[in-house]
Amino acid sequence: MIERVLAIETSCDDTSVAIVEHDGRVIAMSSASQDLAHEPFGGIVPEIASRNHSVALLPLVDKVLAKSGKSWNEIGGVVSTNRPGLVGSLIVGLVTGKSLAQAKKLPFLGVNHLEGHLLAPFLRDEGFAPPADFQTPYVGLAISGGHTSLYRIEGLGDYEVLGATKDDAAGEAFDKFAKMAGLGFPGGVKVDQLSKAGDRKAFDFPRSLMKEDTYDMSFSGLKSSAQRLIDQLGPEETTAKISDLCASFQEAIVDVLIAKLDRAVRFTGLRRAILTGGVSANSRLRERGQEWADKNGIQLVVPPLRYCTDNAAMIGYAGVLRLNRGERHDLSLGPSPHSLPGDFRGENR
Ligand code: KG4
Ligand code: ZN
Repeated sequence: MIERVLAIETSCDDTSVAIVEHDGRVIAMSSASQDLAHEPFGGIVPEIASRNHSVALLPLVDKVLAKSGKSWNEIGGVVSTNRPGLVGSLIVGLVTGKSLAQAKKLPFLGVNHLEGHLLAPFLRDEGFAPPADFQTPYVGLAISGGHTSLYRIEGLGDYEVLGATKDDAAGEAFDKFAKMAGLGFPGGVKVDQLSKAGDRKAFDFPRSLMKEDTYDMSFSGLKSSAQRLIDQLGPEETTAKISDLCASFQEAIVDVLIAKLDRAVRFTGLRRAILTGGVSANSRLRERGQEWADKNGIQLVVPPLRYCTDNAAMIGYAGVLRLNRGERHDLSLGPSPHSLPGDFRGENR
């Protein structure tokens, strides 16, 4: 059995390396954010992301090995995210992972980034451990800058997509709203912070598809409605009412996410759920999620922030489980902007 792996994540704009044990214990992790490099452009510039990954990655590998106190001969495999994501970004982590595996004569595996997010609740370290009785099956809501999807997770590699956003991801909606309100990039965290002082009922934003008989979601109407409101208010009033705007906008997204989670536990009959992905760092979503779980007797696990946002630990855990099932990829493995057929059931409903 492979005890531990070195994992690399470079699917978007965070460069991350971790050493993870087969039981989900994270021995060491180190990540480099590129927020400052992309901020002047108001969004992620793929070419800049790939270049920064190639500068940051090898020093991070050395740093994580040093931090872990492990040597290469205590590492049993190398895994890299190879899908879905920005192809230029994925290539950096994939080629580096394959080269390290070949040089150190270790098995290699490419991992689906979303599978990492769905298994993140099982990660553990000195500051976090999932409840001892937490296990599959469970409902998973993965909410990030690129994805907003609801899954039924039966076990390793057995994931059914129940529904997904038809247009913008929730994180994308946060980021676009922040940009139009003049809050900079990435905006999710800023909207979260400003909302704390705002009135959630000050403005009435649309909650598309919230009550409809579907697991699908839509956030583009919300974005257009915010744009119209900001144009109507003008720059001065927008600034004066920024906290109320943020709190009302955030509440609309949180209402929809909680409604879909609720629908999923009711129709699947599952009593366990997780929130994962960058947007699950949102403090109001975490608060409302916990209230909902307590009220309905659901076991809700939300990983700590370091395992919610993009990180290599979740990739390492998914990777080591699969390597221990005998899965391997050879050096011809390429990146893919999308998930592959077979990764998820029901993706093209
Ligand atoms: O999972 P992630 O780190 O990267 C992707 O795979 O996209 O998610 C990033 C997204 C961004 O859209 C960011 O604005 C959002 O997560 N985000 C938040 C918060 N922290 C990060 N959105 C709302 N509230 C937050 N506190
Ligand atoms: Zn992600």
